[in-house]
Amino acid sequence: MTAKLNVNIDHVATIREARKTIEPSIITAAVICEQAGADGITVHIRGDRRHIQDRDIELLREVVTTYLNVEMAATDEMLEIASMTKPDAVSLVPEKPNEVTTEGGLDVIGNQKILEPAVKRLRNEGIFVSAFVDPITSQIEAAQSIGCQQVELCTGEYAEMTLGAKSAHGEGAVRAAREIERIRNAAVHGSALGLKIAAGHGLTYRNVGALAAIPEITEFNIGHNIVSRAVFTGLYLAVEEMIGKISKS
Ligand code: PXP
Repeated sequence: MTAKLNVNIDHVATIREARKTIEPSIITAAVICEQAGADGITVHIRGDRRHIQDRDIELLREVVTTYLNVEMAATDEMLEIASMTKPDAVSLVPEKPNEVTTEGGLDVIGNQKILEPAVKRLRNEGIFVSAFVDPITSQIEAAQSIGCQQVELCTGEYAEMTLGAKSAHGEGAVRAAREIERIRNAAVHGSALGLKIAAGHGLTYRNVGALAAIPEITEFNIGHNIVSRAVFTGLYLAVEEMIGKISKS
């Protein structure tokens, strides 16, 4: 069975927020992703609102007809947003104020006291709950024990090993292969516990294939690489169009 693809459109909002203006519209982005066949839309609302804003979640909830997955930290502020907007799914993620991007999975074991009531609250609201965890058995078991319905396995470590010089040969390739096995074992274990298995972070057109071959993984959340590619697949046309507007004859 082919895994589902949720497109993470945070970085469309990153461009918009660079000018604090109205374009590019993440609503248009969501609609285009759906028209292209995406199974869902993922966004991460951060405490510092560096890209996705509160209003985006409200509008996306009205517009997205496939599946809306909102990544958030398990804070009171974020849980309130989830309660108000009712996305189809909430993915609980760790968040550090100055990180460039999410730096790894949740420590479910160490944060059980905060996470367990958060999961309960979300599920009581009818929201599907996923936890973003590293491919570590004990963290997956902890996520299941506090009521999560899915784990999203962090593929950041694997992705890192597939970048540039590291990927070509030698230690990087060995570590990437080792990481694929770790992810595969985690997916099999989580699935046996009755959890749905998603994966994401740092995935690209070049490295996703090895993970797509793991049958237990039924969902991918991919953002940065798709938005990056979209810049180049669209740039030629965009320049041609502007030349057309400037042209006097
Ligand atoms: N999954 C989670 C939990 C994330 O935090 C992110 C990044 O926001 C992604 C998937 C998507 O990662 P990327 O943008 O590197 O594809």
